[in-house]
Amino acid sequence: PYNSLVCCSDPLSLATFQGNCFGKTTLLGGELPASVISSNKYISGAQGTEEDWSSVDEAIRTALSAENRAAVLLVGPEGSGKTTTLKNMVVDWAKGKRLQSFSHVFYFQFRELNSLQGAFSLESLIQHSHSHTPASVQPLLQKPENVLLLFDGLSEYRHSPDPSVHSLCSDPSQEASVSCLVASLLHGSLLKGAASVVATRPTESLKCLSGTHVEMLGFLKPQRESYFNRFFTDPATAKRALGHMERTVGFYDISTSPRFCWTLCSVYKSLIDSGANLPETLTQLFVEILVHLLHTLSLSKASNRELVLALGRLASHCSLGQCSGSATEQMDSFGLQQFVASVDAFLESDRPVLSFHTQLIQDFILAICWFMDKSTYDGLEKRLEQDRRGSTFLQFFLSGLSEPLQRRPLEILLGEFNRDQIEDFRNWLKSNSEATLQGFSKDEHYRYFHLLHQAQNDSLVKEVITSTRRAISYGELSLQDAVALNYVITCVGGMETLNLYRTRSLSEEVARVLAPAMSLSQVIELADSSLGAAAVQHLASALSRGVIRKLDLSNSSLGDEKLKILCSGLKDCKLHNLKIWPLSVMKVSANCAKLCIVLTPNWRRSSMHFLFSVILYVVQNCALTAASMNALSAALCSNQSPLRKINLMQNHIGDDGMETLFKSLKQQHCKLQSLNVFDNEISGACCAHVKEALMTEHCCLSELDLSVNDVGQEGALQLCQALSQPSCPMEKLGLTRCGLTMPVFKELGSVLKSGTSQLKSLTVGLNDVGDAGVKPLWDALAHPGCLLEELDVEMTGLTDACVEDLCVAIRTSKTLKSVELRNNSLTDASVPALVEVMQDSPNMLELNLKYNDFSEDVFEMMDQCSNIRY
Ligand SMILES: *[C@@H]1O[C@H](CO)[C@@H](O)[C@H](O)[C@H]1NC(C)=O
Ligand SMILES: *[C@@H]1O[C@H](CO)[C@@H](O)[C@H](O)[C@H]1NC(C)=O
Ligand SMILES: *[C@@H]1O[C@H](CO)[C@@H](O)[C@H](O)[C@H]1NC(C)=O
Repeated sequence: PYNSLVCCSDPLSLATFQGNCFGKTTLLGGELPASVISSNKYISGAQGTEEDWSSVDEAIRTALSAENRAAVLLVGPEGSGKTTTLKNMVVDWAKGKRLQSFSHVFYFQFRELNSLQGAFSLESLIQHSHSHTPASVQPLLQKPENVLLLFDGLSEYRHSPDPSVHSLCSDPSQEASVSCLVASLLHGSLLKGAASVVATRPTESLKCLSGTHVEMLGFLKPQRESYFNRFFTDPATAKRALGHMERTVGFYDISTSPRFCWTLCSVYKSLIDSGANLPETLTQLFVEILVHLLHTLSLSKASNRELVLALGRLASHCSLGQCSGSATEQMDSFGLQQFVASVDAFLESDRPVLSFHTQLIQDFILAICWFMDKSTYDGLEKRLEQDRRGSTFLQFFLSGLSEPLQRRPLEILLGEFNRDQIEDFRNWLKSNSEATLQGFSKDEHYRYFHLLHQAQNDSLVKEVITSTRRAISYGELSLQDAVALNYVITCVGGMETLNLYRTRSLSEEVARVLAPAMSLSQVIELADSSLGAAAVQHLASALSRGVIRKLDLSNSSLGDEKLKILCSGLKDCKLHNLKIWPLSVMKVSANCAKLCIVLTPNWRRSSMHFLFSVILYVVQNCALTAASMNALSAALCSNQSPLRKINLMQNHIGDDGMETLFKSLKQQHCKLQSLNVFDNEISGACCAHVKEALMTEHCCLSELDLSVNDVGQEGALQLCQALSQPSCPMEKLGLTRCGLTMPVFKELGSVLKSGTSQLKSLTVGLNDVGDAGVKPLWDALAHPGCLLEELDVEMTGLTDACVEDLCVAIRTSKTLKSVELRNNSLTDASVPALVEVMQDSPNMLELNLKYNDFSEDVFEMMDQCSNIRY
């Protein structure tokens, strides 16, 4: 029965409550809460951090419904929607939509409470403030836990809510001063157990209240989107408007204010309706706003000027913290009394002290007056120099308005601005920009980039930015910074180096904004950074569109997905130096790295270093196939290739891969010296190509390991043909377990004896040719033309029968240093001869006799020679 205390559920009372508002809807003051709610534009502001926000409504509901219910302190800046949130609670409650556990809801505005004189009891206060209340409220207060008290605007309260300065009361019928009643309600001595929500701008008074703090962040992007969709009923217009806003002013803190969104939507709507362009900068936006307001007031040019100058005097005083006196006194002293009907558009005139609807309009008016009539105020010049941060927006506006094109619409309505004043400012801007941009402070650079962006004058930027400071990283930048940076870079037609070193999180938005600047730069420095996939996409398209020659991404973790995206931009670009640290650091998988090789066929024009690091990574980490040999071969052919040595051990490159690889070895530029293709599914079929390459004049391959492949007799004999050529550079050849036969060994013997072979190391183990098979090699070693230093005949089926030839070889050779004889069948009988020959041959560093058929009896004998291993 009492669910109708504040606003009855009948439409008339609800309308009365909603209409019970102060002021009027104004462009700067925002839409009235009642209108917001009834036109279904209410959107709960966000609470929490940007990453982890929840709706304010939810936060309040949680706090109010908790077991140990706490008072809610709803804190947010001007225009963040606190009043609307409170009123929306009341309306929803009255409509039965939520908060139904409360039987009564009372809404108080501190501003109204200020004006109540004399003594009240709680009952009479409620009856006074809430006209729909029944004659006797006493029964309504029987169950305080069912009562919800909403207090709006604590920051405007003239009394102290501090409990220690009042003697708190507890009896609803006891009379006391209003400030005492309020303090008693806030501190729970009166109506103990009732729930309460106090909304306020940040204020000192909060210190003496306890409860759950709910901070209003206002509209983050998702809420802005909802708001625009509700404001512009046409989805296409809403999308266009929102997109424009996000691009031009969405990055300023002010755009989280619902009130600012309202202003912006209203301006956009009228511009869109009239087919005009939307403003690109904050200055342009405020020019539109002021033009709009002045048109609405339809005053004469002289009166417009008078009004703006009067507002300027107020703005000057407020900005210097000198606002004092009552609203009426202020009106008089600044010459506003003649504009009483007009000031609502700019000022919160229902307040005890006049103030501007927003700080921004105050700064804007100040900037205009600075250019119209300097005598309006003192101390501003000093402020420009001293208070660099505080007056950011003022400087923005001064910079924007110093450009004739931008201030033109205002001059039409207000008359000409003072040329000298403008010239002074422009000189200040120019000389300070020039001086600052010679320095090394990133923040200061950005400050002037922002000012230049507001001015929107390309030639000014070109005059000011004559050289860039490569040593400064513009990294770790906000979206707002990105807009300004991109603006100046595009104005000057690109920077040689765009240094974004150590940008810990390059977001999609920032990368999108910076894309034009990136594509105009020759060098992009992004080492030690971290980029999202979407940001890499923008970088990749800048690469393929632009003139970027060098990109440094070292120590910037990419991962598979992002590396693939990046490679898509490498296909057709001017890049020839891409620095990426070892891909293992980049968290790239082997498969992805392989894909990159395939994705970058135009490697010559893309990136050598990148490709090499990919190749080296792939080579070390994954199964290579013939297909990946194309890229590798291409890399080898480059005259810039740093590749001298490749280990492709245990892959699957096969004969096709070998063919591709050795074709590139024939190229003049190929400087490869060492190739390991141990165990790679190769057969003798590829040896023709190997032979051809080795017989080419430029070939410098001096080490080749073909071990554990089915090279076979035919293949090996072809190799021998190449080895016998005087020009053959081969010094170290591995043919372990290659299915070699006696004829092959015979041929190898001839090669070694030929006097032209450069071979110093030959490994032919695990080819089961026996004593007779290996004999040509011993004979060759005894030949003066043989330069061999190392011979490996592990497990070739040798017996004591070979030892005589072996000893002659060791004794005769002038070059031999080591012989590998593991896993053969020598016995104790051979040991004395072997020990003797080793003792007689100081050149011999090692004779490995492990795993032969020796007994322990000969160990002692072998120990006499330290170069024998057994
Ligand atoms: C831009 O700035 C230059 C150099 O300060 C000035 O000469 C020119 O008039 C300005 N152009 C416009 C269109 O405002
Ligand atoms: C590489 O990045 C890591 C993590 O971002 C950082 O801790 C480290 O200092 C960087 N190394 C170099 C040499 O810059
Ligand atoms: C050589 O012999 C040792 C000991 O019998 C054995 O472990 C090793 O596998 C053999 N080496 C080869 C290549 O067969």
